[in-house]
Amino acid sequence: MTGTEREAPVNQFLSGPFAPVDQEVTAHDLRVTGTIPPELNGRLLRVGPNPVDPEDPATHNWFTGNGMVHGVRLREGRAEWYRNRFVRDDQVVASRGLPAVPGPKQLGGGPRYVDTNVVNTHLFAQAGKTWCFAEAGVLPMELSYELETMARSDFSGTLNGSWTGHPHRDPGSGELHGMAYYWDWGHISYQVLGTDGKIRERVDVPVAGRPVVHDMALTERFAIFLDGPVDYSPAMADKGFAFPYRWNFAYPTRWALVPRDGTGNGSGKAGDVRWCEVEQTAVFHILNAFDLPDGKVALDGVSYAKLFVDDPTGPTESPSRLDRFILDPVTGHTRVERLDDRPQEMPRIDDRLTGHRHRYGYFSGRSDGDSQLLKQDLDRGTSESFAYGSGRFGMEAVFVPRSASAAEDDGWLMTYVSDLPAGSAEVVILHAQDLAAGPVATIHIPHRIPLGFHGNWIADEEVGR
Ligand SMILES: [Fe+2]
Repeated sequence: MTGTEREAPVNQFLSGPFAPVDQEVTAHDLRVTGTIPPELNGRLLRVGPNPVDPEDPATHNWFTGNGMVHGVRLREGRAEWYRNRFVRDDQVVASRGLPAVPGPKQLGGGPRYVDTNVVNTHLFAQAGKTWCFAEAGVLPMELSYELETMARSDFSGTLNGSWTGHPHRDPGSGELHGMAYYWDWGHISYQVLGTDGKIRERVDVPVAGRPVVHDMALTERFAIFLDGPVDYSPAMADKGFAFPYRWNFAYPTRWALVPRDGTGNGSGKAGDVRWCEVEQTAVFHILNAFDLPDGKVALDGVSYAKLFVDDPTGPTESPSRLDRFILDPVTGHTRVERLDDRPQEMPRIDDRLTGHRHRYGYFSGRSDGDSQLLKQDLDRGTSESFAYGSGRFGMEAVFVPRSASAAEDDGWLMTYVSDLPAGSAEVVILHAQDLAAGPVATIHIPHRIPLGFHGNWIADEEVGR
């Protein structure tokens, strides 16, 4: 069944900077302007939606396009290669006549994007392997160093069928913490992926509906997610919408604070969850959270007043803004402080501070319609920016410290930039303390890269190179 409620389908996520590319390419010895910091040995990886076949624009949602991973390998100051590869979900395999990807069978019978096991959201290294992750009942994919899809995985049989697109790494233990959801579950599953690549802890937290839980946050005491208000819609699923979720105005929206030091494994800890009610707001991405001395928790998130009410294609209905949520686990109340009204997304911090107090945040922003990299100083309430230029679109920037002991913003901001008029792309590397100086290095990629979701700098040593 197809949803055809709109007479003249318009879907911005299939054109312009979002338009998919058709070819997988490999380019060696990329041209570089400036100097790549020689200590950067590894890969800058990025994944995003890239529909392999024409989609119905009326029902296609940006979140559900087949995954394509892009990578640049740096070694000793040189850009050795660029590669882009489809993440081989069932639809990609069928469309391109590829051999089936081995691995366990995943949860089934759900909405279309679950059935097609699209993996398009994030990339991490864990247990010496490179992983591509997605959410909502989709199993992780293991990738080779050269970005070929190797296998679906359930983490050696330890995963309950659904992982997350947005785990956060505890900088002390190296473990990945994530919140998993599935359209047919009445709970959110908090899971911890050990450095051995196996789930070592799970807490199933009952919730009122079937909310999207795209991101989460850690503090030293809590693992946190927002319960609501974007909720599974069986009616939309019946009509064939790729992403059958909508804003549910009746949803009792709350922050869930799951104690990290509760009693035992399994669902026993769910009763220890603290709930903080909040006025309905949608938060897909969280910058970070940390415990405050008075027992409350501060959580910085990108929030929306309205989305998935009228437009099922993507988050188009209200501008984003940056809020600090002060959660009180004793009273169950939430106070919201507006940190910045300007639209911004794809928040990143220095990952060494995950769960601890951060000062700086890095965002994709816009100014006069043009794309810019935004650095927020949240202690001072000031910001700096770097404009990518007309027709050029920057993606999520990742921060790489200059050394293990470097100060919070003493390091490199690395991001992919899509140059729409030129039909090409770049990786730009800036020093995070001096955006005004512009890139220290620009790596030229002879291939357009659609605007994507997330990724990471994966140092070679993380994968045993
Ligand atoms: Fe995301």
